[in-house]
Amino acid sequence: MGTPSAAGLAERLARVRAKPLPRHVALIMDGNGRWAARRGLPRMEGHRAGVRAAERLVRFVAEERLVPCLSFFAFSTENWNRPQEEVESLFQLLETFLRERAEEYVDRGVRLHVLGGRERLPPSLQEAIARVEERTRNGTVLQLAVGINFGGRWSIVEGVRRALALGAEGQLSPAELDEARFSTLLPTAGLPDPDLVVRTGDEKRISNFFLWEAAYAELHFTPTLWPDFDEEAFLGAIEDFQGRVRRFGRVSP
Ligand code: IPE
Ligand code: IPE
Ligand code: MG
Repeated sequence: MGTPSAAGLAERLARVRAKPLPRHVALIMDGNGRWAARRGLPRMEGHRAGVRAAERLVRFVAEERLVPCLSFFAFSTENWNRPQEEVESLFQLLETFLRERAEEYVDRGVRLHVLGGRERLPPSLQEAIARVEERTRNGTVLQLAVGINFGGRWSIVEGVRRALALGAEGQLSPAELDEARFSTLLPTAGLPDPDLVVRTGDEKRISNFFLWEAAYAELHFTPTLWPDFDEEAFLGAIEDFQGRVRRFGRVSP
């Protein structure tokens, strides 16, 4: 089987566009290590191929203006438990990605947000994050959130911390705190809640990604390893989403 023709992709795109599209697709990029192992390559080669897959997908989604928000889970609060060399190489790879893509994202109207605790990251990575966020802040075509040292539980605790701080200043009372207000205190405030969470790499779990935000997301799990997740696979995930009945607790019509 060769790659499907451009005409095939265009036809599929047109069909997908005719139905409601998600506003935010969250991607748990898993399977880089296995992708490399299957080729007899070091794990880092899998991560490098994973970055290339993410870059290609961002380009596709921005060019086609398919969805207004994408998020990528790049490094979880639990990933610190990996060997130190892998952690360091991953940060190096992410820093290179942020520095190399900044100009392209400014040109494409992609606004980049990094989600996660920054204080523990290498200073040069913190600096690259601040720079790319500043440079891309006027982008309106695609909101691109990248989780680096991100965890769903960390994010909720951050929200609680901000609520407590406001409370201490007398700016928020317990009665004023509801779900909508709390959402504005989370690190993800301003991004739409994900309508679709995709996990590659054959595991069927959330691994502490968006816990609050994905409360009503549709979940798409695929055995495809992240470096192989291409435009067709992304459209496949959207087609799966479009086949779901989103009841939000109501009864079916
Ligand atoms: C996902 O790929 C990337 C990160 C979590 C950084 P993995 O590195 O988890 O790949 P597998 O699961 O070992 O194949
Ligand atoms: C999930 O992948 C985290 C990211 C993609 C950043 P992991 O490979 O770390 O997840 P587990 O260990 O299988 O749950
Ligand atoms: Mg994994």
